[in-house]
Amino acid sequence: MKICSQLFFSIMAGGTLIAIKYEQGTLQILDQLLLPETFVYVDVKDTVDAWNAIKTMKVRGAPAIAIVGCLGLIVELKTRLNDFSTATSVCDFITNQLQYLVTARPTAVNMKEAACKLSLLVKEMSTQKDVTVEQVVTKVTDKVEEMLEKDVADNKSIGKHGANSILQRCNNKPVSVLTHCNTGSLATAGYGTALGIIRSLHEQKRLEHVYCTETRPYNQGSRLTAYEIFHEQMPGTLICDSMVAMLMKSKKISAVVVGADRVVANGDTANKIGTYQLAVVAKYHGIPFYVAAPSTSCDMDLPNGEKIVIEERSPKEITRIKDVPIAPEGINCWNPAFDVTPAELITGGIVTEYGVFSPAELKSKLDAVPNKKRKIEA
Ligand code: MRU
Repeated sequence: MKICSQLFFSIMAGGTLIAIKYEQGTLQILDQLLLPETFVYVDVKDTVDAWNAIKTMKVRGAPAIAIVGCLGLIVELKTRLNDFSTATSVCDFITNQLQYLVTARPTAVNMKEAACKLSLLVKEMSTQKDVTVEQVVTKVTDKVEEMLEKDVADNKSIGKHGANSILQRCNNKPVSVLTHCNTGSLATAGYGTALGIIRSLHEQKRLEHVYCTETRPYNQGSRLTAYEIFHEQMPGTLICDSMVAMLMKSKKISAVVVGADRVVANGDTANKIGTYQLAVVAKYHGIPFYVAAPSTSCDMDLPNGEKIVIEERSPKEITRIKDVPIAPEGINCWNPAFDVTPAELITGGIVTEYGVFSPAELKSKLDAVPNKKRKIEA
């Protein structure tokens, strides 16, 4: 098995938060439900633990969901090596566990994309002669560790491409940006996507100010993004979601930068609920709207946003905060966790690890990337 280049993944230069602690054979995640008051790591010992952590949102954010799911699986494989007598039995087990992990949350495509890659790998191995259980587990473990390292590297590229694009528009002058939900170290293997762009601007001393929305109903903005901004001493301000139009009217906002749970072939993008209205208001005010998305969040097999399954979550996220009622018991609630921003509103571009593309050119640019098995099975 490959020795990881770091003892713990997601420990980044500059002291950013560590969301995922992985050492061969052990996995711990920061329980994001308890932030910002309590900073506690919990063990993830197997696929079921990983599924539960994703479902209950102890870990969330599209890339982090896939990473924790896959890591949970390889941690389980390491402890259960002796349970498998043949390569075929371990391959079947891996394929089934991957299918199960995909069911935890439906909108983000990253877990599905990772499951597809790993399933193809074990399918290929299961057809080879004389393959051992150990060889299958080693190969899958190496692949997952590779994904983990690649996510951090991709986020750094996204950070660089996105920051350059925003700065080019602003003649390299310091910029103020607005972001939504949490797309930082807590939502990825490290560095972040949209927050990675903001981090890169800050590193280049070109970040005048970052505004983050609280992101109702689950408050990933106030609980997590504000926490990251504060932790890293970026110049930042928290606003309520309802203040966005007022902010754009009264402050000089150079760009809106958000993440993605799934970008589809025509550039339509599913992201945290509220993203769509930010894009509408940004268009009205002539502010460029950027989506930051690693290629693992891009689903080029879906033609447009109408086909994206939108997760609906418990009404309690609206009627209660930390179990304290803030609305009458029994009131009807509708709680879609994501919305779809139409491609035409993504005026800044879609920032991937390969560069910044217009929604219209994204598919052809990704298709042109060599050695990519992009097919995502339903
Ligand atoms: O419900 P969540 O917290 O998982 O939603 C997260 C988002 O919508 C993020 O913007 C998206 O996953 C990108 S994270 C890099």
